[in-house]
Amino acid sequence: MEEHNKTLGEFIIENQTAFQYSSGELSRIINSIRLAAKVVNYKVNKAVLVDITGAAGEQNIQGEDQQKLDVYANEIFIQTLINREIVCGIASEENDDYITVQGSDNCHNNKYVVLMDPLDGSSNIDVNVSIGTIFSIYKKQSAPSQPLTEKDFLQKGRQQVAGGYILYGPSTMLVFTTGMGVNGFTYESTLGEYVLSHPSMQCNEDGKIFSINDGLTYDLVDQGIKDYLHECREQRMTGRYIGSLVADFHRNLLKGGVFLYPPTTQYPNGKLRLTFEANALAFIAEQAGGLAKTHNENILDIQPTSIHQRVPLYIGSKKMVARIQEKLRQ
Ligand code: F6P
Repeated sequence: MEEHNKTLGEFIIENQTAFQYSSGELSRIINSIRLAAKVVNYKVNKAVLVDITGAAGEQNIQGEDQQKLDVYANEIFIQTLINREIVCGIASEENDDYITVQGSDNCHNNKYVVLMDPLDGSSNIDVNVSIGTIFSIYKKQSAPSQPLTEKDFLQKGRQQVAGGYILYGPSTMLVFTTGMGVNGFTYESTLGEYVLSHPSMQCNEDGKIFSINDGLTYDLVDQGIKDYLHECREQRMTGRYIGSLVADFHRNLLKGGVFLYPPTTQYPNGKLRLTFEANALAFIAEQAGGLAKTHNENILDIQPTSIHQRVPLYIGSKKMVARIQEKLRQ
């Protein structure tokens, strides 16, 4: 029989017993995310098309409509997870508060909560540039008989049982870890399946790419960051910045590099969200041999105090992140 790349479905079944706390539930959650991602992928592609044809007449997807796509992606992911009755709670960057799934008392006895940024980098949709979805899965902390509380969503990133992202780019990819390495799956639209295209992903220890919004230059508050950027330029490194965290992170993961979103005058605590964005990517970075830090802590060791908390983020190749830390200490 002809060899074929493993599909995500096959991969999940094969690895199910190796998953932490394996009971099939985690596999089902990842399966639901896979399904929702297919739907969002379809819509994202269509949105771009509508935008292009929209210029010639009828409907134009700009500002407001783009927000609609955020809302749509949010609804698809939430609804898919709720319909399958596999999680007891969901928190989304799009919502102020977390959602308790079906009755706070018994929660279907489901033991997982999902935190997600359903459509990250959404300002890039109307220009046909890559965007993404980021998700983290945790085990509920309180006893099954107890109602879900905010504490269940405020767990350290290190407590994730799975973390991942979907990149809607020239091809769509789903990359995730359950703490046993990182695997990347590419969407094959004719099959309607994600196939294992990037097994056991590794991040180079060092790299040549630095990714930061250059427009922040005069708003940076830390001399260490200014010095680090100066050093990157002196060393003729390559500056690459898409403005979609998932896409910037993914490129650096594959090629070696570092992504920075430091404190600025506008965002003194950094712009990116700890629970919805940083933690999942930090889990992947570490599992791939990279590193994710804030100013003095590993991202995964930060105790969140609110679900929408922001953090400075330095993530990617280990040596580059370590060099940033050195500069910040000088
Ligand atoms: O979190 C939202 C986000 O769009 C990220 O995807 C991206 O990395 C960042 O904000 C871009 O921010 P800025 O426009 O300030 O460079």
